[in-house]
Amino acid sequence: MLLRVRKGWELPDSAATDETVFHQRRQLIKSMGLGSVLLAGGGSALPALAAAGGDPSAALYPVKRNEKYKLDRDLTEEKYATTYNNFYEFGSHKKIWAAAQELVVRPWTVKIDGAVEKELTVDIDTLLKQMPLEERLYRHRCVEAWSMSVPWSGFPFKALVDFAKPLGSAKFIQMETLADKKTMPGLKQFWYPWPYLEGLSIEEATNDLAFLATGLYGKPMPKQNGAPMRLAVPWKYGFKSIKSIVRFTFTEKRPVSFWEKIQGKEYGFWANVNPKVDHPRWSQATEQVLGKPGRVPTLLYNGYGEHVAHLYKDMAKSEGDRLFR
Ligand code: MTE
Repeated sequence: MLLRVRKGWELPDSAATDETVFHQRRQLIKSMGLGSVLLAGGGSALPALAAAGGDPSAALYPVKRNEKYKLDRDLTEEKYATTYNNFYEFGSHKKIWAAAQELVVRPWTVKIDGAVEKELTVDIDTLLKQMPLEERLYRHRCVEAWSMSVPWSGFPFKALVDFAKPLGSAKFIQMETLADKKTMPGLKQFWYPWPYLEGLSIEEATNDLAFLATGLYGKPMPKQNGAPMRLAVPWKYGFKSIKSIVRFTFTEKRPVSFWEKIQGKEYGFWANVNPKVDHPRWSQATEQVLGKPGRVPTLLYNGYGEHVAHLYKDMAKSEGDRLFR
């Protein structure tokens, strides 16, 4: 990543997302008596709400927390997680949250294709109704050596894999972000290989930890964080956690991701967090926690080794340090 050393976590409070907007919207939904209609997935009210700028999934949140995933540190304050972002489609700096409000999140469809029993396109709200939504507290470690700890809402990636019914030949899943020139000014930077692509092996995607996040802090996913659905793979550097996904392609061939195409020596396919394997241009030994002073040590697999280390055991010899960048 083209790192800019900016102390974005020192943003003034005035730059934070205005919570009242969320509360007013929830109030509106309640006063219209639409909560239960939305929960039941009643279709007729949805376009009207979407046109009014509402999010038809709002009534689904908050969802029940899965207590299996514990944090060893404080939750990051919402104002930091929602105003210090990487989303290159809206600009190659951290303050894209305002620009990202242009992202149109309804209607939103997700295509599932490649090595699956039947290729299909599904509407996000239809998908959300079928997936087992829960909340998980996860750490997130960016390759740029900053981190946060946040409550994602969403569902296990494995539920989507089951829904997609992959063929036995599928070994990897490639994911793709929306690329809309009308709303995403970053796409004018033609030297980037848009659309943003990422990939996981099937074993990684079906690991318990791999999560498709559709909400944050008990509300629908903010646009700047990757609405309406983004990946959360907390044992890997943050660039693997692709935002605003429109397509999942099951494939035999290992995908080449966005950052790997740009600079494969610095940003590889596996990108597992390891404090002992430095980025070619900076140390990965410690990290700056958003909103906190000083730095804390970075942990192997970002502290999630018990869940995922076994996935890479047989690869350690052949892949070496490439497992960690
Ligand atoms: N997904 C897309 N489509 N575009 C991006 O620029 N940036 C990645 C990842 N997903 C990125 C993306 C990087 S580098 C990080 S660290 C995380 O998103 C940041 O997520 P956050 O803004 O929610 O903290």
